[in-house]
Amino acid sequence: MSRASLEKRPEEVQAMFDDVAPRYDVMNDVLSLGQTRRWRKIVVEAVGAKRGQRVLDLAAGTGTSSEPYADAGIGVVACDFSQGMLKVGKRRRPDIDFVAGDATNLPFAENSFDASTISFGLRNVNEPKLALAEMLRVTKPGGTLVIAEFSHPTFAPFRTVYSEYLMRALPPVATKLSSNPAAYVYLAESIRAWPTQDGLAAWIQEAGWENCRYRNLSGGIVAVHRATKPRA
Ligand SMILES: C[S@@+](CC[C@H](N)C(=O)[O-])C[C@H]1O[C@@H](n2cnc3c(N)ncnc32)[C@H](O)[C@@H]1O
Repeated sequence: MSRASLEKRPEEVQAMFDDVAPRYDVMNDVLSLGQTRRWRKIVVEAVGAKRGQRVLDLAAGTGTSSEPYADAGIGVVACDFSQGMLKVGKRRRPDIDFVAGDATNLPFAENSFDASTISFGLRNVNEPKLALAEMLRVTKPGGTLVIAEFSHPTFAPFRTVYSEYLMRALPPVATKLSSNPAAYVYLAESIRAWPTQDGLAAWIQEAGWENCRYRNLSGGIVAVHRATKPRA
């Protein structure tokens, strides 16, 4: 069973997601206590795509984050570098356009999407700043970036309880349910090591995006950042 280290070597991250792919969506629902559905709805609203537009869902995994666009008749490209995740996705949703690609070297031309979004993926990318620059390149001027990622609860006592949940409760639950429990130790560690909401907003702006704002969900367990590509 493979798990990535906090160095996030691409081949380790890829192998880890190949391993978790068969039970990925079930685990998500259980470990988030059913919250993922609400979070995903808010992400789709933030993207605000319309029929006729084209959305890049990066690090799309099994395509669960891409489905709402396809269901609404919006053109969505689900891109990921784990063949295991893509295989499960293609089987589940043959109607969605799944593309194998690395977030740090996207296989798309510049200005090809109205919006680029990444849900629970950026934290796993070896060079997240490069991925932000790549998303900027492939998004049209005036287009939108939306990032959903685990973040840091804003209320200090809750932050302590949540941190305990991540480090103590989550790994044993994962051991019972997951096809790769070690991956959930990585999940807990990588969430703790991830930048704060303001820290991620700074990365986004440094990559060239503008008007970056974020919204905390579930007290800051998740943050949704939104920004736009300059028109000029
Ligand atoms: C936690 S899953 C998220 C899947 C989906 N977006 C969702 O919301 O359920 C993270 C995904 O990021 C992908 N990933 C990590 N690094 C990547 C990279 N450099 N390029 C493309 N995909 C990457 C993994 O393969 C995995 O499928």
